[in-house]
Amino acid sequence: MRVLSGIQPTGRFHWGNYFGAIQQYIALQGNEQSFYFIADLHALTTVRDAKQLEQNNWDAAIDLLALGLDPERATLFRQSDVPEVTELMWMLLTVTQFSLLEKATSYKDKVAKGISPDAGLFTYPVLMAADILLYDSDVVPVGADQIQHLEITRDVAQRFNSTYGGEILHLPTARVLKEGAKVPGTDGEKMSKSYGNTIEIFETEKSIRKKIMSIKTDSLPMEAPKDPETCSVFALYQLFTTPEQQAALAERYRAGGMGYGEAKQAVFEASLAYFADARTKRQEFVANLGLVEEILQAGAKKARAKGQEVLARVRAACGLKPRI
Ligand code: ADP
Ligand code: TRP
Repeated sequence: MRVLSGIQPTGRFHWGNYFGAIQQYIALQGNEQSFYFIADLHALTTVRDAKQLEQNNWDAAIDLLALGLDPERATLFRQSDVPEVTELMWMLLTVTQFSLLEKATSYKDKVAKGISPDAGLFTYPVLMAADILLYDSDVVPVGADQIQHLEITRDVAQRFNSTYGGEILHLPTARVLKEGAKVPGTDGEKMSKSYGNTIEIFETEKSIRKKIMSIKTDSLPMEAPKDPETCSVFALYQLFTTPEQQAALAERYRAGGMGYGEAKQAVFEASLAYFADARTKRQEFVANLGLVEEILQAGAKKARAKGQEVLARVRAACGLKPRI
């Protein structure tokens, strides 16, 4: 089984990215093959500053390694180090219906927000399809918001296969982790960079505490019994704790006599403990960027070998000569 996923280097990773995506990457590594990449070509649709993109690429690689991505058990690479992916994207574009891309909600949402779309944004899902199909991926772990992109990928692959008559491209399936499916941000909405409500994994402790203390809650008085089920502070607490700890805090919510400040302090402490080892490891990688680059290059080499094999199949199916 080949597991593959990508994450855009558009800013520092936050709790939503970790529980929605990165945690699954780590749980699934050690499979027969696990490919994880930093989607820097996708990031070009939003990051238009060379220095910034370069820095984001470093941060993404370092954060993933610090969080437990193990190069012995998974292949980590930069998307842009595998040129085969953009070549495959072109082949896929030629069989992708315009109307299919017009239906993509993430595209429609951006347009609705007033962004004037370029062709890169419009064809974003086709580059993503190429990312997945280039490596014969079986399983693609992603957050819930990416499911539609996986459906588009399957659709494009099927259209390619039926156009060229054969099982040339392998159809992948999405894998979504339920508990992590929607991590709330400080305003109670889905945590997302675009909403400015994120808590980044490696922010300073001071800044994390400040953000947690700013989380929106209802205005029930201290004495009142409170409902853990509808409270985003409790939802965050659940991410970092055992069922026993959760039951204990839920009991305190329901009993009344506890203010939200106390629950927030509990989230702060639990989150620090949860990421403590990763914080230490991060410092080690920051001090050894040479090693990080070596890991990325070795990863790209492995990914390209597989990508070239699939691209050769695709070129032959289309009637193109093998690459010289
Ligand atoms: P952002 O919304 O902050 O820009 P991305 O779109 O880059 O984050 O998301 C990267 C990955 O993290 C995706 O797989 C996405 O589904 C997942 N993800 C992002 N935010 C959340 C969240 N709040 N809850 C669960 N998963 C999330
Ligand atoms: N679009 C994904 C996101 O924003 C990132 C991504 C690019 C991806 N290519 C991929 C995810 C291939 C899974 C597989 O989160």
